[in-house]
Amino acid sequence: MKVLVADKFPDRALQRMKELGFEVVYKPELKGEALNTEVAKSSADVLVVRSTKVTEQTLESSQLSLVIRAGSGYDTIDVGAASRRGIYVSNCPGKNSVAVAELAMGLLLALDRRIADNVQQLREKKWNKKEFAKARGLKGRTLGILGVGTIGKLMIERAKAFGMKVVAWSRSLTPEKAAALGIEQKKSPEEVAAVADAISVHVAMTPETKGLCGERFFAAMKKGAYFVNTARGGVVDEEALKKAIREKGIRAGLDVFAQEPSSAAGTFEDDIVGVEGVIYGTHHIGASTDQAQMAIAEETIRILRQYRDQEQVPNVVNQEAAAKRVPARDAAS
Ligand code: MLT
Repeated sequence: MKVLVADKFPDRALQRMKELGFEVVYKPELKGEALNTEVAKSSADVLVVRSTKVTEQTLESSQLSLVIRAGSGYDTIDVGAASRRGIYVSNCPGKNSVAVAELAMGLLLALDRRIADNVQQLREKKWNKKEFAKARGLKGRTLGILGVGTIGKLMIERAKAFGMKVVAWSRSLTPEKAAALGIEQKKSPEEVAAVADAISVHVAMTPETKGLCGERFFAAMKKGAYFVNTARGGVVDEEALKKAIREKGIRAGLDVFAQEPSSAAGTFEDDIVGVEGVIYGTHHIGASTDQAQMAIAEETIRILRQYRDQEQVPNVVNQEAAAKRVPARDAAS
């Protein structure tokens, strides 16, 4: 079985795939047209991607039967186009959740203590205890969480360890689940915003969550509250956030941006990072620890093996693709 890996992947995992008998083509730099051309001309059965976008054009002339998203979210893949062509899409849910929750806590602490600004001034040879001694502290504050999935739950544990009270909104949250988690359930993101001193976003990117944090949400937030987004840029209306930063002194810690590049390095000119006020941005690195990347790689290999050896696709997100399979592609169930 031929596997095209079109994103950075750990060497150890690539080696393991080869040992298991997969024919591996490793081209981590492939993007856009170059990716489409390579996929069309190669006879790859499986495409493995992380940040690389997989569009209808990528899939249309391919021999692919499976696309694996080496991560949790799969909003970078045109799942509808894959389903229409009988191509399965699967992902690696939960494997990098701890890493994302760790970064979200890091951003929260960074916002409260303005760590990045401290560092910058030290590097400019300035001592400014007078200014940076002004911090609020997290203990006893209320953290609002949007989305109580795996990462949201890990965030609850971490917030509690810091002595924070947690309120949350999530589509799947019930009073019973909230009670078991020891948190207070709110009926809407705006209800969370109204009482929280800090908010952390952990919802998946779907048509329903696009722009979830918009004008109404930021209008409901307390003045000067902290806002952390390690989920997806599209969940936030960036214009509304910019306005909230300017007009309400909201401090934002963002790991994800609506228009972020899919390449690993390059230029990035989104003006939200330059908006006056406290914006601490990171480079969509929530899932990027050694631990998380090895866990993702192991899950990718598990999916590959089960697909090849047992004709099953673990974590398939488009079971409907089965109805469109052509005989050459009916290896999965
Ligand atoms: C995810 O969807 O799991 C992460 O955003 C992965 C990544 O950083 O590429």
